[in-house]
Amino acid sequence: MTKVLLVGGGAREHAMAMALARSPGEPKLVAALSNANPGILALCEDHMIVKETDVEAVVTYARDANVDLVLIGPEAPLEAGLSDALRDAGFPVAAPSKGSARIETDKAWMRELMARRALPGRVAYGTFSDPDEARQWINAHDARVAVKPVGLTGGKGVKVFRDHFQDTAGAMAYVDEVLSKGIGGSARVVVEERLEGEEFTLMAFTDGKRILEMPAVQDHKRLLPDDEGPNTGGMGAYSQSDGLLPFLTAGEYDAAVEILQAIVDALAAEGHPYQGPIYGQFMVTADGPKVIEVNARFGDPEAMNVLSLLVSDYLALCQGMAAGDLGTASADFEEAATVVKYVVPEGYGQGAPAVGVPIRIDDAAVRESRCTVFYAAVDAKEDHVVTTTSRALAVFAKGDTLSEANERCEAGLKAIQADRVHVRHDIGTKELIQRRIEHMRHLRSRTLETTKGLGP
Ligand code: AMP
Ligand code: GLY
Repeated sequence: MTKVLLVGGGAREHAMAMALARSPGEPKLVAALSNANPGILALCEDHMIVKETDVEAVVTYARDANVDLVLIGPEAPLEAGLSDALRDAGFPVAAPSKGSARIETDKAWMRELMARRALPGRVAYGTFSDPDEARQWINAHDARVAVKPVGLTGGKGVKVFRDHFQDTAGAMAYVDEVLSKGIGGSARVVVEERLEGEEFTLMAFTDGKRILEMPAVQDHKRLLPDDEGPNTGGMGAYSQSDGLLPFLTAGEYDAAVEILQAIVDALAAEGHPYQGPIYGQFMVTADGPKVIEVNARFGDPEAMNVLSLLVSDYLALCQGMAAGDLGTASADFEEAATVVKYVVPEGYGQGAPAVGVPIRIDDAAVRESRCTVFYAAVDAKEDHVVTTTSRALAVFAKGDTLSEANERCEAGLKAIQADRVHVRHDIGTKELIQRRIEHMRHLRSRTLETTKGLGP
């Protein structure tokens, strides 16, 4: 019987645990996590509450529990070197080494790698420690740039022209802040061309050589309806039954797969073979998909969308990634549309989350709605859970069509009883999706006119 250690306590890890529990090999599960996630604990035979970046404690736990395989959900333990320490201790690990996870943890290195290897999907960028040089670059791009700290900021450290600043002075105010405060843990800042288009996530399983791609997903990073408000870890996401998205063509999806494969090949060529799930955040532009960032893990919420549809043996895929050889495995997914919406404490994303708010879940109503509740940063109490400072739980639904999945998700959300929580109900609605389609149509026709010499 295979015994698996899962590191991490969010909804993404709850989805990983559920996918493992469906594996025909019926693996035993133990977990190392920083919060008592009731969804994960219900699937585990043992667990340890621990800081996931405490490498020594997690390795000791893996030894004591005598596990056969380790999965790591979040990025912080990767940066802390957990996968390397576990491998050194003899454990197979289905997560990238610290060196290959640099593709996420060091945005300057990611852009340099793409440039050095002339990879498809790259964008114009500069990295700066000198504010004057940054100003020149920003001026040369009419302030149409994105300003990014080099290191991890929990997905909340990027500021973009039009959304966050309108001119070079505005961009420079943030450049100065990043440099002076060392935001993202570095004395450098990345500035890149601002891309126009629609964002999507493409994730894949990889053994460092082949990639097995998953359905495309669209996440919603902004806190408020209609994509207003500050960036968050992600408020919800949807996917379509054919693996594409309403604004994404098969050709564009294939181009993104090629880019992800090229990144995996480049990492291997540079001595950092990447073993684990890899996540490409893309912008589909009028000029095809471009890389916004690469993450060294599953997305959260996106993991809930796609792992819930996985029909292939997840345990076998993880063993293949850990061994550096997926063999002839394939990754097959049920052809269904999915919608996931997060329930977050009021004030989340605005610096004042309502902590300790009780949330009651009517299990019978959840079952009736055919939804799944994935737990995130909540503490379990006797017959309910309470919010902490981060996203609380997510409701997942699937259906033949997006509108069916969305209706079911909304029905499932009615089974969640709480005051002082916030949900983006617009995710997965026809209106919002139609706007995405119109947006891409507009960008594509504008480019067509320009290339015909008719446009501005
Ligand atoms: P990141 O943490 O790099 O994913 O960036 C957070 C968000 O900032 C992304 O989801 C995009 O919405 C936006 N963003 C990042 N880079 C760019 C870019 N080059 N052009 C336009 N928007 C961007
Ligand atoms: N959903 C965004 C992320 O996981 O980074």
